[in-house]
Amino acid sequence: MINDRISLREKSIVFIGFMGVGKTAIGESVAKKLYRDFIDIDKEIEKEFNMPVREIFNSIGEKAFREKEKSMIKDICQQKLKIISLGGGAFLQDEIREFCLAHCIVFFLDISWESWKERLNIIIDSRPVLQGLSLEEIEQLFYKRQGIYSAHHSKMGTDNLEIEEAADYIVDSLKLAWDMYEPR
Ligand code: S3P
Repeated sequence: MINDRISLREKSIVFIGFMGVGKTAIGESVAKKLYRDFIDIDKEIEKEFNMPVREIFNSIGEKAFREKEKSMIKDICQQKLKIISLGGGAFLQDEIREFCLAHCIVFFLDISWESWKERLNIIIDSRPVLQGLSLEEIEQLFYKRQGIYSAHHSKMGTDNLEIEEAADYIVDSLKLAWDMYEPR
């Protein structure tokens, strides 16, 4: 059953943003600082199918991946006190977007195209969505996706920030919001 009466302090925190922005690394660090469990939705999907995301796309197909992504997110995001990292394409689905915005605090981790493209070589092999695309096509996808990430509660630019710095900033801003909107 969905609990709509979760207090602000107990709401799970969901990280969204483009592939490779650092949702998992920053999410893990925030989880440690707040003594909460961290859940990476892609890792959970990989466990269910017992194969890496790229193989799921290749052998079972993106449609099955997206269906599993939706049910997994709706299940996990109704729990409280979790720190959750979503795959970069999850917010393309209206149902996921609306569900997360209604039940969790959604944090958009932003990055400039200039900074992001320096990471392309490191991430490309494990990201099926980027396979076979030219740099120009990836750039188009990057800017198109900015539109879906604009639905969030809070946003942070990550350019030139170390993981720990970004996590500290997020924890500080959460504490500020908790104290402001839900004073003890
Ligand atoms: C995807 C992003 C990936 C993963 C899948 C599809 C996307 O997650 O869910 O490869 O469509 O943007 P990351 O954002 O963690 O790379």
